[in-house]
Amino acid sequence: MLRQQDLIDSAYDILDRSIIEYEGEPVGTAAAVDPDPAAIHYHECFIRDFVPSALVFLLDGRTDIVRNFLRAVMKLRGMQPVPAGHKRSQGLMPASFRVGGESDSAPLVGDFGERAIGRVIPVDSAMWWMFLVRAYLIASDDWDLLKDPEILECGAQILDLYKRESFESAPTLLVPDGSFMIDRRMGVHGYPLEIQALFYGTLLSARELIERIDSSNDLVANLDLRIEALRSYVRLHYWVDRDRLNEIHRFKGEEFGLEVTNVLNVYPESIPDWMDGWLDSSCGYLVGNQGPGKVDFRFFAQGNLLSILFDLATKEESAKIMQLYDLHWDELIGEMPAKIVYPAVAGQEWMYMTGSDPKNVAWSYHNGGNWPVLLWPFVGAALTAGRRDLAQRAFDLVAERIERDNWPEYYDGRRGSLLGRRSNLFQTWTATAFIIAHKLMEDDAAIGLFDAMTFSEIGARSP
Ligand code: GLC
Repeated sequence: MLRQQDLIDSAYDILDRSIIEYEGEPVGTAAAVDPDPAAIHYHECFIRDFVPSALVFLLDGRTDIVRNFLRAVMKLRGMQPVPAGHKRSQGLMPASFRVGGESDSAPLVGDFGERAIGRVIPVDSAMWWMFLVRAYLIASDDWDLLKDPEILECGAQILDLYKRESFESAPTLLVPDGSFMIDRRMGVHGYPLEIQALFYGTLLSARELIERIDSSNDLVANLDLRIEALRSYVRLHYWVDRDRLNEIHRFKGEEFGLEVTNVLNVYPESIPDWMDGWLDSSCGYLVGNQGPGKVDFRFFAQGNLLSILFDLATKEESAKIMQLYDLHWDELIGEMPAKIVYPAVAGQEWMYMTGSDPKNVAWSYHNGGNWPVLLWPFVGAALTAGRRDLAQRAFDLVAERIERDNWPEYYDGRRGSLLGRRSNLFQTWTATAFIIAHKLMEDDAAIGLFDAMTFSEIGARSP
């Protein structure tokens, strides 16, 4: 194993090589610096992939690139192709962008999914943008940014789009399949947990920024209502531990009226076999999705970890989620943190759910692959819940083999022991996640800033 400092240097080398310049200024980072990437668009800057890059830059005081990024993405908002006769939503942001040509004056070009497979809509992008605006302001102290009318207009357009009433019957956000990190068809349409956690972070960020500008703004009171409603709903309907599972196991179906227990009409028969005996009394987690007559019991790592970081989960729940990791370490971490979703779907279920997607066969890629980028929220969440032991264990696993494997995007197999079949190498967010995790393990000053930027409280909660 290389010395830790050599590993960190190597991660920074990837980050520095990934920087994309526009008009002589750094504006983003490419998804991978693989000389032979699996897909050509990995040379683009993905909004979600830039988030851990941004956290590294902000922790290091390299705040300019984050400001440039925020402005660049802002300019690309609302430029999605819209079907004839549709009204354009100005608050939508692209999944990725690139410099549109060789010359320095070539414009930036966003991709809203129109060039991506399946034409998936990047619902998460504008939410990450809002999160990063707040993080940038905290790290840079450049509060003048909030005097920029275009930033304010952009924030208002995002809130307008994400708070708009559509077909929801709940405070959660209704989205199509593949609208976030899992950007292929994976049965994650409806109300996926990761989107709800991000939505919660977005509302919290917006509330704080608006209050800072004008605390008498009616929006603050409205956001308070939305935040409270979303939090209560997720805590009630997504949380499952042994007691809750028992309740669901004994649910009566077809209850009509207002005063019923099983409001979403979940049939106990829908509890999957693998849940039998999976939870002991010390652990629990937030289920992957909730909707009428439908609980997706799969464990999605990013949604659970962000819920810990953003305090969407209670302190007790956070502790129980980390305890679940402890109990099922082999399945949820294996040889590489962390499994994106557990368990994988196989056979006919895989056919129906993914449309027979060969990249997403069982225990590969989005369908139960292991993603080293999840190290940053994992370490952040573990430390927040006072589980330094788990943070260290996960960190050591990455340190042991990531350089030898050339910083891949993902791993395959039940235990994540195989290099992802179509994985890129030198994936930027694999490197940046490692840098953030290292800082959180070693650097007290970084912890304070990370806490402020992510709503977490590592310092306060660690023993
Ligand atoms: C894949 C991932 C997506 C990521 C992109 C670039 O499409 O599913 O989450 O943003 O690669 O790394």
